[in-house]
Amino acid sequence: MSIRIMGTGSALPGRVVENRELEGMVDTSDEWIRERTGIGSRHVSTGETVASLAAEACGRALADAGRQAEEVELILAATCSPEEAAPCVACRIQSEIGAGNAVAFDVNAACAGFLFALHTAWAYVEAGIYRNALIAGSEVLSKLVDWEDRATCILFGDGAGAVVLEWRDEGDAGILSSYMENSDDTERTLWCDSAFTARTVPFDAEQGLPEADAACDPYMRMAGQAVFKFATAAMVRCTEEALARAQLSVDDVALFAPHQANERIIRYAAKKMDLPLERFQIIIDHVGNVSGASALIALNEALCEGKLKQGDVACMAGFGGGLTAGACVFRI
Ligand code: UT7
Repeated sequence: MSIRIMGTGSALPGRVVENRELEGMVDTSDEWIRERTGIGSRHVSTGETVASLAAEACGRALADAGRQAEEVELILAATCSPEEAAPCVACRIQSEIGAGNAVAFDVNAACAGFLFALHTAWAYVEAGIYRNALIAGSEVLSKLVDWEDRATCILFGDGAGAVVLEWRDEGDAGILSSYMENSDDTERTLWCDSAFTARTVPFDAEQGLPEADAACDPYMRMAGQAVFKFATAAMVRCTEEALARAQLSVDDVALFAPHQANERIIRYAAKKMDLPLERFQIIIDHVGNVSGASALIALNEALCEGKLKQGDVACMAGFGGGLTAGACVFRI
């Protein structure tokens, strides 16, 4: 038996923002952004929501898998940028695609969210509780980014990716291992004060409500270099751990589809694992850092470009706010 990735899909907002456009908004340059991050452009939502992008990606993944929405038993949405506290994004997806028979809930593990959701779905299917699962990673981080902060606004983009997982009685294709880990971030290297719950209530308000609200910074903040250091180490450590659990080595992997936070992070990890960069699917040049959706979009693009054939082993890795990190190895 195996738990197999049956289909993938992705969705990006229509509006493309080139680096040159950002030059007129903050003190930056196309040259700096390309050199320090590998990003040339990103998609920014001008009406698309986390749920609408996720539903579009899910619809494509289901069509790719040859499955109907009513057949779906579990929907997990990974996001750290939902527009509303309730209903959750997975419930929105459920009603938008018509998956009336599914159980649906969200997972928030920031940029590693897709991996934590995939791991959770894998555990449910492995336990025999559900026979299949639809997993989406979707982000509209453009709404959490401070467009006057050049250290973060040049980095992020919006979009969604999705995969269909299914229990199969035979075959050796499917998930071979999955690994998650957390490390302490009391230093606050990557955070976003909640827009939903950071309000005072009449019972604890010694100071007035307006002041308390003003004290809440609604934007995402990042200590770039500290996160960079964590990210490079975590990507290598988690990839090696997931491969060890699958009793495989980096040489067995046909393609790596990692979270795309910065092309330099991917280059560093490739060098550290003594791998040519060609073995990595790099999409950051045209989508930026799409947080919990990045690696799913990368996997979808790799499959669409025919870079993986049946029997190939692939690996996804992710890392982000929390701090969260993980990797997963699977055979196509
Ligand atoms: O997905 C979740 C995880 N996120 C990540 O993994 C992101 C990890 N961090 C990074 O990717 C990088 O740290 C950044 C892209 C955010 C920043 O790149 P960096 O090479 O670490 O730059 P830095 O922060 O060390 O800044 C170098 C210089 C500074 O100027 P001075 O002090 O040397 O004069 C910055 O003020 O570059 C300046 N700078 C910029 N210059 C032009 C910072 N941002 C910009 C900018 N344009 N957008």
